[in-house]
Amino acid sequence: MRIAIVTRNPRSYSVRRLREASRQRGHEARVLDTLKFSIMIEHQKPGLYYRHRRLPHIDAVIPRIGASVTFFGLALVQQFEQMGVYTINPALAIARSRDKLRAMQVLSKYDIGLPATAFVRDRDEILPAINRLGGPPVIIKVLEGTQGIGVILAETAQTAEAIIQTLQLARQNVLIQKFVKESGGRDLRAFVVGDKVVAAMRRMATPGEFRSNLHRGATSEAVQLDAVYETTAIRATQILGLRMAGVDMLESNDGPRVLEVNSSPGLEGIEKATQVDIAGAIIEDIQQQVLVPEVDLRQRLRLTGGFGIAEFAVHNMPQLMNKALRETDLTQRNIHVMSITRKSAVIPNPKGDEVVREGDVLLCYGELRELRGLMPPKEARPEEASGQAFSDVFDEDRDDVAGK
Ligand SMILES: Nc1ncnc2c1ncn2[C@@H]1O[C@H](COP(=O)(O)OP(=O)(O)OP(=O)(O)O)[C@@H](O)[C@H]1O
Ligand SMILES: [Mg+2]
Repeated sequence: MRIAIVTRNPRSYSVRRLREASRQRGHEARVLDTLKFSIMIEHQKPGLYYRHRRLPHIDAVIPRIGASVTFFGLALVQQFEQMGVYTINPALAIARSRDKLRAMQVLSKYDIGLPATAFVRDRDEILPAINRLGGPPVIIKVLEGTQGIGVILAETAQTAEAIIQTLQLARQNVLIQKFVKESGGRDLRAFVVGDKVVAAMRRMATPGEFRSNLHRGATSEAVQLDAVYETTAIRATQILGLRMAGVDMLESNDGPRVLEVNSSPGLEGIEKATQVDIAGAIIEDIQQQVLVPEVDLRQRLRLTGGFGIAEFAVHNMPQLMNKALRETDLTQRNIHVMSITRKSAVIPNPKGDEVVREGDVLLCYGELRELRGLMPPKEARPEEASGQAFSDVFDEDRDDVAGK
């Protein structure tokens, strides 16, 4: 294969290792400077130039897009995708994970432990938000911070409010987060490649410090993760649409709390701490993926009008309940069940004799008309049934709502 490593840091440890691992496996690897590309958009001919020359055929790209070149870097990765070049992490997924708030929003819908977090603008919302997080102490985080800079522990609500207001004055976006005290200045970094954790380490802060960033002098050691931590790291990576990621987690009393999913994780700290050949694992995964690349189903389906994918929980559906798939309505309607999620287990590509149970979540492909035909009709909800009346929450006459 011809592999391009796209980076602004050709001499970094990570790049050196990726290049070495490619060569050891008989591939041709080139380190290319992110900013020396030109993107050409032409009718049905997406192209790229590198240092004034048209880019020759490449099989795979490993993008290492630093925060300083995010915009151009993402456009470049997108262009590789348009040209049909395999990229280990796609542009959309890198963008989503880079925005920490957006990433947490996406993950929060799933069974992934996260530290409870609030994002507010109005100063009147700060104290109520702190209370909803369980009260002080809380962590305040500048969204654009890295290496532990911009992560502050506020002991009281008043201090927290003052810090947040000061940061907002300086036009910083800040998150308020529950302080996971029991993590005790330690966090875990799981390095995910494909659907595996290939290496993991625990980082421990220096005494008196709660931030376990290596840049803040923390030390690290290899760890074997518990199953729930492994699953969380892999699922978080997959949900965001990444194939390679460094997932940072706190160890709370209630299990993993994901802090961040990094799409360009460094290799040096973790390879040295664990002695695992992570670069090799990355190249071997690329080898596999290039053979049968994953497709973006949603984009493909947009072009096949009338067909689509639907996901629904089995509830009040007598035509499905307790029947084997092949005996259900689904077969009649020519609907293909791609997976069944049962509690937290997933049954991929279930066979005809799989029995559907109450609460199963079915992911189906078929004609949209048929998929809609499966659903019980949605009834209008009386106000009392939803617990709280609309008018209790939104009172249009309250003057504090006006003009905001
Ligand atoms: N809610 C929390 N409770 C306890 N400790 C925390 C919490 N959030 C962060 N920390 C500690 O602070 C460290 C730094 O936080 P975080 O990783 O969110 O920011 P960062 O390292 O500056 O950003 P990035 O990881 O993007 O470089 C973490 O590694 C962890 O040790
Ligand atoms: Mg961090």
